[in-house]
Amino acid sequence: MTPTSSASAPLRVAVVGLGWAGQQHIAAYAANPDVDLVAIAGLEDAPRAELAEKFGIPVAVADWQELFSSTPLDAVSVAVPTFLHAPIAIAALQRGIHVLSEKPIARSAAEAAEMVSAARTAGRVLQVAFNHRQRGDVRALAAEVASGALGRIYHVRASWLRRSGIPALGSWFTSRELAGGGPLVDIGVHMIDAVLDLMGEPRVLSASAVTHAEFGPRGLGGPDAATGGKQFTGSAFDVEDFATVLLRLEGGASVALDTSWASYRPEGDEFGFVVYGTEGGAELRVVDYAPATDVPLYAGTTEAVADRVLPGGVPAGHQGVVDEFVRTIRTPALWAASDGSIAARRAAIIDACYRSAAEGREVAVEDVEAEVAR
Ligand SMILES: NC(=O)c1ccc[n+]([C@@H]2O[C@H](COP(=O)([O-])OP(=O)(O)OC[C@H]3O[C@@H](n4cnc5c(N)ncnc54)[C@H](O)[C@@H]3O)[C@@H](O)[C@H]2O)c1
Repeated sequence: MTPTSSASAPLRVAVVGLGWAGQQHIAAYAANPDVDLVAIAGLEDAPRAELAEKFGIPVAVADWQELFSSTPLDAVSVAVPTFLHAPIAIAALQRGIHVLSEKPIARSAAEAAEMVSAARTAGRVLQVAFNHRQRGDVRALAAEVASGALGRIYHVRASWLRRSGIPALGSWFTSRELAGGGPLVDIGVHMIDAVLDLMGEPRVLSASAVTHAEFGPRGLGGPDAATGGKQFTGSAFDVEDFATVLLRLEGGASVALDTSWASYRPEGDEFGFVVYGTEGGAELRVVDYAPATDVPLYAGTTEAVADRVLPGGVPAGHQGVVDEFVRTIRTPALWAASDGSIAARRAAIIDACYRSAAEGREVAVEDVEAEVAR
């Protein structure tokens, strides 16, 4: 197992995957003075060469399997199609390399559990890029909730909705086998993550979900792979393009989530959540990835309204994710708690949602977790 490089030398880091996500990791590492970005891997020749030149990256290989033998590494970002998250992360962890995986952690709770187990065995960090929980406006709202200003949060209504945003028809995204699911596992997972983080990580007891596939199977609702800049895998559309979910949490609170890649609604891409607390509420609404948005807060009484606006804060996104990953690697006391288990809990919730939708009943999340543990 490779030892992490000395505290004085920058961390030697690689990024696997050169799509939109991988390029966010590359730019964020390049901006972190504690990192030496030594290698990238990705199948596309032209972007690989351009990125290596632009960022002065000495090693640039096509397949991830070539990466670990070609250069010593302290850490790797895994920003590839979801079916490759587990094999790459586990191979890295077994070599003592810390891992930052893109979301979702994996296609299923079972794969996620294998990744967590590999991190624990290796005694290395496994984090997952939940960049939206790092947004300045989300952090500002989370601080407001943590301060108790909104009282006890009893319900959150979250959504991430697109009119025509299937990432690419015929790409890995639209294949259950390659992606694990549709918008619920792709963008809904961000909302589940941010909301549970905001609420202080309560246990999710059960999930009830309904999924629909109304546009993708007709070849509607998004670009084809070539137009969308994605590799064509020839995948039939066998995931949902809309999901609606109700989660019951310990202590009686609830979370509702609607998520779509395609639906008749205003143009664009919109996500956010409405928070209902006993002493106040809030509405966070982000349209077309605005980097920061003010958050209206509702409080007071009918006689004395005390509404105000929370300023949007400083945009963070992937830079925040990468900086936190680097800080965690530099703080060995944090490694044991950074084993990917929070992201694995998200995977169990999503498995429970898909099972609920398939079987037409409410599913206990602990049943999914117990099956995975067997
Ligand atoms: N956090 C976010 O906001 C966000 C946004 C988009 C995507 N993502 C996640 O990032 C991951 C990648 O998504 P994307 O949209 O960038 O995908 P993409 O299809 O655009 O890019 C995938 C990249 O992986 C590379 N790849 C595939 N097989 C490989 C192999 N065997 N060896 C090396 N490289 C290989 C491809 O060459 C390509 O560069 C997914 O898990 C997705 O869910 C996260």
